[in-house]
Amino acid sequence: MSDLRLEELSAATIVAANTLTLKPGQEQYVAPVSHSIAEAYVNPSTAWPRVVLDDDEVVGFIMGNFDAENDHDELRSCIWRINVSADAQGRGVGRFAVHALAAEARHRGFDQLTVMYEPGDDGPEAFFTRIGFEVVRETPYGEHLAALRILPDPHESEGTES
Ligand SMILES: CC(C)(COP(=O)(O)OP(=O)(O)OC[C@H]1O[C@@H](n2cnc3c(N)ncnc32)[C@H](O)[C@@H]1OP(=O)(O)O)[C@@H](O)C(=O)NCCC(=O)NCCS
Repeated sequence: MSDLRLEELSAATIVAANTLTLKPGQEQYVAPVSHSIAEAYVNPSTAWPRVVLDDDEVVGFIMGNFDAENDHDELRSCIWRINVSADAQGRGVGRFAVHALAAEARHRGFDQLTVMYEPGDDGPEAFFTRIGFEVVRETPYGEHLAALRILPDPHESEGTES
C-alpha cells in the first residue's frame, strides 16, 4: 500500500469504481457507487469524486461535497460517501482517502469535514472515530453526524501577506 494515489473520477476509472466490492453486511450502510456518480453529474460545481489507485488498480472511491453557501454549516464540507474494495480494506486505504479529502477541505479554507452514516454492526463508525471524527449528534432519521476538526496549514498563507 505504499503507492496509493488519488485521481479524479474519469472515463478510465468509472467502471472499476462502480464495481468495487463490499464485505458481507456492509451493503446496508452505503448506496451503490452509481448513485454518487449520478449525484456528481448533477452537482458538478460542488461534488469532488475521486478514486484511490494502488499502482493502477482502483481500490477505493471517495466523494466530497464542498458548498460554502449551504445554509447548514454541517453540510458545507462533507464526505458524501467512501468505500474501499473488500480485498483492500484494513490496509489504510480509507484513511488515505479521508486525509486527502481533508487536505482539499483545508486548502479551500474549511475548518471541519463532516460525515453522516448509519450506526450499527459492520458500519463505518469505528473507522471514522479511529481516524479522529467525533459524533456531533444524531439526526431525526437515526443517522450519526460526525465531524473531523481541520487545523489550518501554517504554510498555506506564506507569501500572501503584503
Ligand atoms: C469504512 C471503510 C471505508 C474503511 O476503509 P479501510 O480502508 O478498511 O480503513 P483503514 O484501513 O484506512 O482503517 C483506518 C483505521 O480504522 C480502523 N478501522 C477500519 N474499519 C474498522 C472497523 N470496522 N472496526 C474497527 N476499526 C476499524 C482500522 O483498524 C485502522 O486503525 P489503525 O489506526 O489502528 O490501523 C471500509 O470499511 C468500507 O468501505 N466500508 C463499507 C462502505 C461504508 O460503510 N462506507 C461509509 C459510508 S459513508
